[in-house]
Amino acid sequence: MIKGPKGAPDILPDKSEKIKLVIDKLRNFVEKFGYREIILPIFEHSEVFERTVGEETDIVQKEMYTFYDKGGRKLCLRPEGTAQVVRSYLENNLKQLPQPVKLYYFGPMFRYEKPQKGRFREFYHFGIEALGEDSPKLDVEIIYIAIKSLEFLGLKDLFIYINSIGDIEERIKYKEDLKNYLFDKIDLLCEDCKKRLNTNPLRVLDCKNEKCIRVTENSPKILDYLSEESKKHFEIILNKLDKLKIPYKLNHRLVRGLDYYNRTVFEVISEDLGSQNAVLGGGRYDYLSNYLQGEKVPGVGFAIGVERLILILETKNLIQDKKRKIISITPLNKDFYEESFYFYLYFGSKGFNVLFPYNFKNLKESISYSLKRDARYLIIYGGDELKDGYLIVKDLKKETQFKVKKDEIIKYLQEVEDD
Ligand code: HAM
Repeated sequence: MIKGPKGAPDILPDKSEKIKLVIDKLRNFVEKFGYREIILPIFEHSEVFERTVGEETDIVQKEMYTFYDKGGRKLCLRPEGTAQVVRSYLENNLKQLPQPVKLYYFGPMFRYEKPQKGRFREFYHFGIEALGEDSPKLDVEIIYIAIKSLEFLGLKDLFIYINSIGDIEERIKYKEDLKNYLFDKIDLLCEDCKKRLNTNPLRVLDCKNEKCIRVTENSPKILDYLSEESKKHFEIILNKLDKLKIPYKLNHRLVRGLDYYNRTVFEVISEDLGSQNAVLGGGRYDYLSNYLQGEKVPGVGFAIGVERLILILETKNLIQDKKRKIISITPLNKDFYEESFYFYLYFGSKGFNVLFPYNFKNLKESISYSLKRDARYLIIYGGDELKDGYLIVKDLKKETQFKVKKDEIIKYLQEVEDD
């Protein structure tokens, strides 16, 4: 038997219905703040990510699904959405719209990672981006929406890890000092970080290896290297978060695994996720558009890892599936099979959730078939009642039975209370 690719789990209906419920809520929530959906291709020119996410990042170095198409173009399955959204903003000249342009997206992302709990090779992002405005108010709005949208789904006691990584200039000096600090302790670092130290020492701060975490605990802090402007930007954000009573923790080691960020970076962490504990990550990326050879388009946003979010919601029993009112239609006996099947199709076309016993044997079996599939009502099609223009309806929950005029049954079942 041929199996599906590793790390790309099939999403079966029980799960996909939960995802739909959650995503519908998130869509509604962000749309209230003026974010509108953008649907972008699943494959992109690899360059879009190489230039922005960064040549030295794990994503670009190890995790991209890159391929050449028949025209010899170097493409990849997108590993994330932000660079792609900025590419689209530039290409479609969205700067002619009133700024900021507020966008959201939901769709699959691809990273060749080692699959484990909460980590897949194909996974879903729900993300929002606000482009064309560098005010710290937008950082606050984005962080506010991040926390409040998760609260809206029922999650409590969340907090944000936040840091400012300054602008490009400020990081040059910082990287130098960090590198020197870490060089003295190189033997204590993991093998990957020994290499990272030369290419991009910031990535050492991001490493999840216990040894590296210990080494970086007292390393130089980026906040001490910020320019006056970057400091002010960060202070304004923290001030407003205080006023809004949004809980956060400063984390000087938070640099994020993508290179395009400047100034604000943040993550929401959940203990329920084990080592893969970030449910959401985001930040500001005012230079990303420059890396794509476009003009400067400041931006800020976040993306939620949808599988991780669902995992937490499931652990906390916070996804309540709305019970659908299912109406089962059965022939009274085999003589009415054909006609009742057409009636079932007609009923479905009127917007009901319908069910039909394809291998009808007798009424008793139809009842148990309907009960097993959670039907609420069973319409019995046929007999003298039908001759008189009536149908028998069984309420399978209340175990009652009544007659309804055939001509009025649609209206009746549309209006009946679902208690
Ligand atoms: P990211 O931190 O790489 O950020 O991804 C965001 C979230 O996606 C993570 O916090 C995590 O929940 C989830 N995630 C990442 N990798 C995997 C995986 N292999 N399997 C399952 N879930 C995963 C970004 O991608 C940025 N584009 C976020 C952003 C938007 N920044 C600004 N705007």
